[in-house]
Amino acid sequence: MLPGSLSASRSDSDAAIEAAWTIVLATSHAAEAVAAANRRQSFRVTGDGQLEAVESSDPEAVVCWHPGAGWDTALPVTDPRRALMELYLPITGATSARPVTIGHLGQSLDGFIATHSGQSQYVTGEENILHLHRMRALCDAVVVGAGTVAADDPQLTTRRVPGPHPLRVVLDPSRRLGTHYKIFNDDTVPTLYVTTARTLQPGETRFAQAEMATVADTPNGMDANAVLQLLRERGCHRIFVEGGGVTVSMFLQANLLDRLQVAIAPLIIGNGRPAIRLPARDALSECRRPRYRVFRMGGDVFFDCDLRDLGEGPEEGTESIPLVTRII
Ligand SMILES: NC(=O)c1ccc[n+]([C@@H]2O[C@H](COP(=O)([O-])OP(=O)(O)OC[C@H]3O[C@@H](n4cnc5c(N)ncnc54)[C@H](OP(=O)(O)O)[C@@H]3O)[C@@H](O)[C@H]2O)c1
Repeated sequence: MLPGSLSASRSDSDAAIEAAWTIVLATSHAAEAVAAANRRQSFRVTGDGQLEAVESSDPEAVVCWHPGAGWDTALPVTDPRRALMELYLPITGATSARPVTIGHLGQSLDGFIATHSGQSQYVTGEENILHLHRMRALCDAVVVGAGTVAADDPQLTTRRVPGPHPLRVVLDPSRRLGTHYKIFNDDTVPTLYVTTARTLQPGETRFAQAEMATVADTPNGMDANAVLQLLRERGCHRIFVEGGGVTVSMFLQANLLDRLQVAIAPLIIGNGRPAIRLPARDALSECRRPRYRVFRMGGDVFFDCDLRDLGEGPEEGTESIPLVTRII
């Protein structure tokens, strides 16, 4: 391919991603109202990024709402906007009546999310970093563990994509963190600092600029159920658990994740901070093998696992996919 046509196809694909993201954001904003109407409806997207109801036969229809199931794309299979929409519509279909909690990890080929010293920027590529910003924009809350704040001093905003910032939530069960991190000193986006009741001093309500909240301790650490309940009471229905491995594993072990997203990067760390760690099992038959979808995300391979679908293997409807496909 000539260099000129290569850059033309790159800008075509950028335009498709931008257009798809406008639709995804529109579905995110409209889900609660559309779900309340409780009927199957098709929509087009207006020039200012709003959804407008149309007949299902309308050639401009881009998405369809199915009561009890959520959004589906109404685009032809060859439409270049489709893949990005398919990736995010399961998230934007979540509402107060059908909330969703998603865990994400970006790991090396050998299952680590950072080096031994905690360096993780960046295990995965640029596309996966953009994906994190998109997920934050679609979710009401982004949750990280204290180890992530200590290692990365993250901002957890959506600065790389158009879209709202989520509530930032830091879980610090043993109260190991100091107040000097960026996330506790930037009041443009609210932060909730969650620790355990035993660590709280009388009368304490703030951790630098962040609001403080407590949940109960369990013999295994923080009560993950209580964390979810706390966030739901604050109107957070889409919750994104962005890491690290200890925190995602805590939600997974408590069976509180509806979806698990794992981006696998072509990198060998050898030894470092592990991704998922759960109590040991003897038999493979006791291990979960969830339904999944696979996306190419730049140079990474991205697994989107549906932990609520009791089936195994690829999502239904993908049986016709050839057994071996070269994706990159
Ligand atoms: N690649 C990715 O997807 C990704 C995503 C996020 C983070 N990361 C990396 O993963 C690492 C963090 O993950 P993680 O699984 O170790 O922890 P985490 O899930 O972020 O946080 C959980 C626990 O970290 C512990 N912790 C360990 N060292 C700490 C410290 N110096 N200060 C405060 N708390 C500390 C705390 O344990 P106690 O309960 O004992 O206090 C806390 O409960 C970092 O290196 C970060 O850069 C990678």
